Amino acid sequence: MKIQIQKLSALASKSLSFLLDQSAPENQVKRQIGLNIGRSSLTACEVSFNGEQLILERVIHKELIKNKPLENQIKDLVQEAKFESKQVNASLKGQGIVVRFLSFPKMNRADFASSIQFEAEKYLPFTISEVVIDYHIFESPTVGGGESADTMQVILVAARKTDVNKLIELAQAAELKLKAVDLDLSALVNAFEHSNPELKGRSLALIDFGAVDSTLAILEKGRLAFSRDIAFGGHDLAEILRRKLNISEEEAFKIEHGPQAAHADQLIVIQESLERLLHEVKSSFNYYYNQNQNASAVETVYVSGGFSQLSMLKEALEKQIELPVKTWDPTSQLTIKDTVDKEALKALIPYLPVSIGLAIRP
Ligand SMILES: Nc1ncnc2c1ncn2[C@@H]1O[C@H](COP(=O)(O)OP(=O)(O)OP(=O)(O)O)[C@@H](O)[C@H]1O
Ligand SMILES: [Mg+2]
Repeated sequence: MKIQIQKLSALASKSLSFLLDQSAPENQVKRQIGLNIGRSSLTACEVSFNGEQLILERVIHKELIKNKPLENQIKDLVQEAKFESKQVNASLKGQGIVVRFLSFPKMNRADFASSIQFEAEKYLPFTISEVVIDYHIFESPTVGGGESADTMQVILVAARKTDVNKLIELAQAAELKLKAVDLDLSALVNAFEHSNPELKGRSLALIDFGAVDSTLAILEKGRLAFSRDIAFGGHDLAEILRRKLNISEEEAFKIEHGPQAAHADQLIVIQESLERLLHEVKSSFNYYYNQNQNASAVETVYVSGGFSQLSMLKEALEKQIELPVKTWDPTSQLTIKDTVDKEALKALIPYLPVSIGLAIRP
């Protein structure tokens, strides 16, 4: 399917981001990079906009090297990828960001814009001077949210200025120009919506299982209705394996990545650790349903992220939340240029959603 420009603006209206540079006229954005700086890996995609087509031009993925400065690793990645563009979008996740789903009395946008500057602090664990805030106002009420015609639904996002500034510095060090700072969350949702047009308007959940945090997003009838970064990922499992089995980091890593054949004692540790994560997922769902009593039920959970490849994760998740769990391909609606190695791309699919969501931003 070819993507329409209108569709891109629809995506834009949904994306939550801290725009840094809105001065470039839209028709100048011909190609850009989406850079996902994870805690265990770097993934970057370059996408060009050719009329109605989005073309995936370059993809690169590298595991982070311990004790090597991050800025040097990004610099090396950018050099190796040979991107044509200098424009980059990047994202934040985890402890430094806050996402709140709020309900306000209906008011016009200008009034809301001025009042939120004063009001925001009461919804945040930070002082307003420490953070950059952004928000998205939903045009129509939700079906399941239970709000009246007198209220409007808003997603409020805050990110620490220090984190945003760090991204600016990292981009500069790699001789790139940071165009927008997004959230992993919204990049994930954008990539999903773009690559699964047939699921538009459905109630579903996305989980990106990373190294340090696992990002959960619940879409109710296509609208982002809940999100949470659960502080558990592949690094935590490796650390628990190392401690409990009294083994080296390398051995723990091997067990985590191993296909099936873990020993019984190793399997028990993996299962117990996963229980903690899956319990958090389950209680997030319960919390969501409690807060949104009329919400339509999530039909399917779509997973991504490096840690989603853990051999028993999908099955254990299915059992815990009693819903079908599926993987998805964020490149499915992109034209793949022959500069991209299609075989290598297949193996990278779990790592790609956030960087693609960032690269296809208008
Ligand atoms: N085949 C596999 N089986 C189990 N775990 C895996 C596998 N491949 C990668 N992982 C784990 O997935 C994690 C990395 O995933 P990913 O690259 O998506 O994380 P990240 O984006 O760097 O982290 P974060 O999103 O938390 O910042 C690591 O902890 C890694 O050990
Ligand atoms: Mg990640």
